[in-house]
Amino acid sequence: MHHFSYRDGSLFAEDVDLRRIADEVGTPVYVYSSATIERHYRLFEAAVKAAAPTGKAHVFYAMKANGNLGVLKTLAALGAGADTVSEGEVRKALAAGFPPERIVFSGVGKSESELRYAVEQGIYQVNIETEGELDLLSRVAGLLGKRQEAVFRVNPDIGAGGHAKITTGSSENKFGVSFEEVSRLYTRAANMPGVRMMGLALHIGSQIRETESYEAAYTKMVALVGSLRAEGHRVDRLDLGGGLGIPYEIPKDFSHGPDLIEAYAEMVGLVTRGLDVELGFEPGRLIVGNAGILLTRVLHLNPRPTKQFLVVDAAMNDLVRPAMYEAYHEIWPVSEPEAGAAEVAYDVVGPICESGDTFTAGRLLPALRPDDLIAFMTAGAYGASMSSTYNQRLLVPEVLVKGAEYAVTRPRQSYEDLLGTDRAPPWLA
Ligand code: LLP
Repeated sequence: MHHFSYRDGSLFAEDVDLRRIADEVGTPVYVYSSATIERHYRLFEAAVKAAAPTGKAHVFYAMKANGNLGVLKTLAALGAGADTVSEGEVRKALAAGFPPERIVFSGVGKSESELRYAVEQGIYQVNIETEGELDLLSRVAGLLGKRQEAVFRVNPDIGAGGHAKITTGSSENKFGVSFEEVSRLYTRAANMPGVRMMGLALHIGSQIRETESYEAAYTKMVALVGSLRAEGHRVDRLDLGGGLGIPYEIPKDFSHGPDLIEAYAEMVGLVTRGLDVELGFEPGRLIVGNAGILLTRVLHLNPRPTKQFLVVDAAMNDLVRPAMYEAYHEIWPVSEPEAGAAEVAYDVVGPICESGDTFTAGRLLPALRPDDLIAFMTAGAYGASMSSTYNQRLLVPEVLVKGAEYAVTRPRQSYEDLLGTDRAPPWLA
């Protein structure tokens, strides 16, 4: 379910005509819907709270999916926490109004200075991924005279997800400490001055559209909680990660959506029943994925003997998912196609000088002309947050819509900014 729909022949984000945003902000541009973000957050939070065995469930939005300030402030205002993976994310979460006691710091390679910053801020939890990190965290926090609450991220050897590059839970993946090591590390940590172990975390992958792999991994975790407690360790928290997937192929009359959330929450409730723990969740894509689109304008048509190329003003530097993960994004023309209009098979490509800069091949769309607007749907997660300036293109702007209002929450980068960050070496200055 999302709030992008046709009205009077034009595609709207909530009550704002996308043609207006294209004219006033220019293209390419990301457009996010506040109502969609709010709906998904509320649905997910209510479902997991109801399922949690102690009624205690904390939702930490994985801000790597979309770190736009407007999006973050929307979620902070709803009471969400933030799952962060770098000092930059911790800083941005704080700037957006997430209180430190609702911030989790995850990630496979945290540096000493990053850990120091996070501990100084008094964040809720560090998710420790290696023995070296355990030692480092204890030393850093000890020097600050603090004892940082932390959990071990465990690799359950159950991976899942929409693509090999986004599977994280297999023992072949770089993430987390192995199951067999947790007990020894817990014992070591008990004697360390700078950490207080509070429990366990896991995250098995991203764009997971079933509950079976979660169930298998969570079942292993619940057993581990039992055995650690039997050894006398304190396990109050179980962070069950993120990764729940969303439909990228969406019929225009799409109106359902919570089914997978409900099935997931029901499974969580069953697997953790009777367990005295507080649950944590780190959803990213599920909250923002279909709350955003990338709006782009057709620049040129390039008819060739075997193909019809549609060259648009967005490129792989603005939305890298198709090039990187062979990801599928629906394309909706902003002008509503007439029923039964003839369709053309297009290869939709961007201006970047490599063939990988292809959004889709042979996609059937109504006939389009230069200056027409189209929208890449379901681009709210891992769209702008993965954008770059490749080919010295300006970082793409972002707009947040709320009802009939919209705000530019990140303006298009200027050429002064783009050129001004480089420095010539002194011998060539
Ligand atoms: N927690 C941890 C520890 C993670 O590594 C991730 C995502 C999440 C939570 C949130 O996962 P989500 O709920 O958004 O699936 N760039 C890729 C996705 C990479 C996901 C990385 N980790 C894509 O565009 O599909």
